[in-house]
Amino acid sequence: MSSKFIAPSLLAADFANLQRDIEMVNQSDADWFHVDIMDGVFVPNISFGAPVLQAITRHAKKIIDVHLMIVDPDRYIHTFAKLGSNILTVHYEACTHLHRTLQAIKAEGMQAGVALNPHTNINVLEDTINDIDLVCVMSVNPGFGGQSFIDNTYHKVSQLKELITRKGAKALIEIDGGVTNKNAKSLVDSGADVLVAGSFVFKSSNPLHTISDLKNLANS
Ligand code: DX5
Ligand code: ZN
Repeated sequence: MSSKFIAPSLLAADFANLQRDIEMVNQSDADWFHVDIMDGVFVPNISFGAPVLQAITRHAKKIIDVHLMIVDPDRYIHTFAKLGSNILTVHYEACTHLHRTLQAIKAEGMQAGVALNPHTNINVLEDTINDIDLVCVMSVNPGFGGQSFIDNTYHKVSQLKELITRKGAKALIEIDGGVTNKNAKSLVDSGADVLVAGSFVFKSSNPLHTISDLKNLANS
């Protein structure tokens, strides 16, 4: 079985101690940094923008996985490439010309991701799946950390896995929202490759231990 990845979401980090929390992730068994950018329009919350990402990349020593929850993301593809994003994920629901957006992300040397809201059916990716490096299946409604996991996600992940196999595509499946040690193994068994975890990691008493637990569960 190929290795499964853990991506702690910095949205749940202590912003007054961001460097400390980033160093913790550097030293942990985590694979990626998940960075949530929210504009207060696409989602009802504002997180942080380019200057904060710039500060993050000064210390982060792992893959930077940027999740854009913004309208008209094409405006910022170049900016996020320059800031050192390795993966740039846009929302299907925010892209009128998704195929063009994916090409633009790859032309900037990044991996291209597409996120799907809980209400969006997998079949909308039927004609683009071969152009996508990562599909982020939202297991909560985007905008906030600490929400409860939506159970229909398992069904969506199996459907997505089937689509990827049928089309001979290479996209990784990422799960974002409400991931804990209770659902990590079942998600991987359904077909997930990457687990994002915010609150479960950063609000735990021993984040290093929590990350290695998740990593072991995902690869068991
Ligand atoms: C939600 C964000 C998530 C969030 C996950 O809109 O996309 O990445 O940080 O947080 P938890 O793991 O707390 O649900
Ligand atoms: Zn996210």
